[in-house]
Amino acid sequence: MKTFTVKDSLCGKAKPGQFLMLWIPGVDEIPLSILHAGDSEVSVSVKLVGDATRHLHEVKRGEKVGVRGPFGNSFTENTGKVLLVGGGTGTAPLLFLAKRLAAKAELLSFVIGAKTKSELIFLRELGNVCTEEAVVSTTEDGSYGMQCLATEPLENLLKKQSFGMIYTCGPEQMMRKVFDLAEKRKLPMEASLERLMRCGIGLCGSCVIGKYRVCRDGPVFNSVQLREVKAEFGMSKLGFNGGRIPV
Ligand SMILES: Cc1cc2nc3c(=O)[nH]c(=O)nc-3n(C[C@H](O)[C@H](O)[C@H](O)COP(=O)(O)OP(=O)(O)OC[C@H]3O[C@@H](n4cnc5c(N)ncnc54)[C@H](O)[C@@H]3O)c2cc1C
Ligand code: FES
Repeated sequence: MKTFTVKDSLCGKAKPGQFLMLWIPGVDEIPLSILHAGDSEVSVSVKLVGDATRHLHEVKRGEKVGVRGPFGNSFTENTGKVLLVGGGTGTAPLLFLAKRLAAKAELLSFVIGAKTKSELIFLRELGNVCTEEAVVSTTEDGSYGMQCLATEPLENLLKKQSFGMIYTCGPEQMMRKVFDLAEKRKLPMEASLERLMRCGIGLCGSCVIGKYRVCRDGPVFNSVQLREVKAEFGMSKLGFNGGRIPV
């Protein structure tokens, strides 16, 4: 995982939840969530998974890349007791949100999960934004924090506190579990979804979920919208060849 900061006055005004399209000349253009924006600069955190992200990881300071955005909607900013649940790279937009909410929200609790300790990103930053005891860490291999999935400590947390909002971003099956728990307790939530993205502006249709286009109508969806796309949320999405594949 590497963090990149790019000069761009438009993206420098982005809100938590929005994303940008980053073009690596001669390689590809990929969607990335915004980690931080301000002073005509924007930062993204990128996990190396394939061709585009490998080329990006090799980009040297000062080299040029292309940026389009900011695109999509943003998280609403709830000022009550809020719970954030982040998995893997999904922690980045939630950290941006947590920084915005730090001075406004009555309580910020954060559950962060990853496969292993080295993938638990922004732990120190989260400890600075929330109080350290308000951050619960989980790893699947037990190398740091609780050995379980990020969704496991939730039942307990939800019993102890009456949260006014749950925000989540990360692997979709994790977000689906968070949704099911939130529905059981009738708690409002917002989830930031990922789909294959090409145009980023609602034209090509590659990012559809139900009646929505994730790039234009999302990427942040609320409980009402998530109920409408329940058959696909955490289940399936369109793949590169236009066929439906499991998430
Ligand atoms: C709204 C949104 C926000 C994202 N935010 C981040 C982030 O903050 N950090 C991060 O590391 N990753 C993020 N991603 C995922 C990132 O876009 C993919 O990891 C990247 O496109 C992979 O490209 P690649 O060529 O390296 O890998 P490839 O080998 O081409 O693809 C690896 C996997 O990445 C996904 N992917 C590839 N191309 C796209 C595409 N055009 N749109 C969506 N998914 C794709 C697919 O699941 C694919 O199987 C986000 C995706 C979306 C849709
Ligand atoms: S990426 Fe083209 S419509 Fe969403």
